Amino acid sequence: MSTVLNPPPTVRSFRSPTSRSPRVSMLLRSTTLSTAAALPILTKLQHDCATPLPLLRNIADNMAADMRAGLAVDGGSDLKMILSYVDCLPTGHERGLFYALDLGGTNFRVLRTQLGGRDERVIDTEFEQVSIPQDLMSGTSDELFDFIASALAKFVKKEGGKFVLPNGRSRETGFTFSFPVKQTSIDSGILIKWTKGFSVSGTPGKDIVACLNEAMGRQGLDMRVSALVNDTVATLAGARYWDDDVMVAVILGTGTNACYVESVEAIPKLQGHKSTYGKTIINTEWGAFSNGLPLTEYDKAMDAESINPGEQLYEKTISGMYLGEIVRRVLVRMAETGSLFGKHIPEKLQTPFALGTPNISSMQQDTSEDLEAVGSILYEATGVDSNLDARKMVVEVCDTIAKRGGRLAGAGIVGILQKMEEDSKGVVFGKRMVVAMDGGLYEHYPQYKRYLKNAVAELLGPELSSHVVIEHSKDGSGIGAALLAATNSIYEH
Ligand code: BGC
Repeated sequence: MSTVLNPPPTVRSFRSPTSRSPRVSMLLRSTTLSTAAALPILTKLQHDCATPLPLLRNIADNMAADMRAGLAVDGGSDLKMILSYVDCLPTGHERGLFYALDLGGTNFRVLRTQLGGRDERVIDTEFEQVSIPQDLMSGTSDELFDFIASALAKFVKKEGGKFVLPNGRSRETGFTFSFPVKQTSIDSGILIKWTKGFSVSGTPGKDIVACLNEAMGRQGLDMRVSALVNDTVATLAGARYWDDDVMVAVILGTGTNACYVESVEAIPKLQGHKSTYGKTIINTEWGAFSNGLPLTEYDKAMDAESINPGEQLYEKTISGMYLGEIVRRVLVRMAETGSLFGKHIPEKLQTPFALGTPNISSMQQDTSEDLEAVGSILYEATGVDSNLDARKMVVEVCDTIAKRGGRLAGAGIVGILQKMEEDSKGVVFGKRMVVAMDGGLYEHYPQYKRYLKNAVAELLGPELSSHVVIEHSKDGSGIGAALLAATNSIYEH
């Protein structure tokens, strides 16, 4: 699972993101020449990004319909609706030493946990995190997997203390691999395509576990991959270990995705797959959703120039990898057409991805009178000098993009709940239902999080939404993958 955002450097007093009208009128009153020319660009952006309730309802309905079409037949919709082969979730009875690997974003994590069954639960956990060098993200498959296996081998060497492997057993690991994978069993799966800026050659079409096994072999590491899982699935398992009402998991970090517990009878494309429990987890891969999204010219240009044009459009509209970049593109337009930052347009401002989502979140936390933090973040990230009016305008742009993202993400969650409710005839709504949520975007962007929650409440109404608990399950995917390794262990536990 990926965590692209760092906590904003200084979070000063909080300003309500819902106070749009006073802020806009303040902006209009104090508009100088430079911002006056940029104002129509802002107005158009706000118009194009608007997410009124009927639009959100349409998104939720389309999400539910696309889920259904993707469950009917492979390729039936933008949503792949991938079978996870996770039919039973952790119960709390799991015992023993288990590892987890987590690859999905800019960081790679290794973790080990000693589980003590119902009474002792998690006896101890240790983890290490390494950032993935940029060149490995576009290198060869062997280079990437050798890097992973070597970090894992080093970590295993430090095992000791409360971590005990019974004699005669191989170590087992869960492998959280947060990209679209066509699972062929609980411990194998073919990479469909890379997302989130990865473009490693030689991996798409290959079995990910085989790639890892070969690399572990090269490191002389004896470790069995017992479960290959998506980060959403691992998050669901990790959260479910503590709370039986968890039915959905969502990641909002560098990328985005959601999974949920589905009844086997509701999956026509299953044909023959048996689940002892009648339920299984479906990885929706909702990042590929596109039906009805309010896209602007900036989104379209960013998509056209991306390494995966036409793909992952929902992800490109709501997730951490892209929000800062959309804002940057708007600012370039305001600088070029509206001279927002004076005559000179620094090269840095014109550099793709110069402005990150952590930057735009930090700027939105600045409530000082002169928006000093906004000025310095803008200067450091993009090289522009800004006056107060320009800074106010920039904050409006950030808010517009965060608001659209948060509200669309909220509508997606309601779409999933709607689909579950339609099939379960009244047993989903009206009882406690937990959505486990993880990812740096949700964690570190308070306005985004509030927009998301408001959209869920608006769509469901006060009564139904009071039963829906969106619970932050921080780093639940690491422990979740280890728990799924335990649930799928070849040994008795
Ligand atoms: C991937 C998903 C993943 C999500 C969150 C997306 O880009 O396609 O598999 O779950 O990012 O990490």
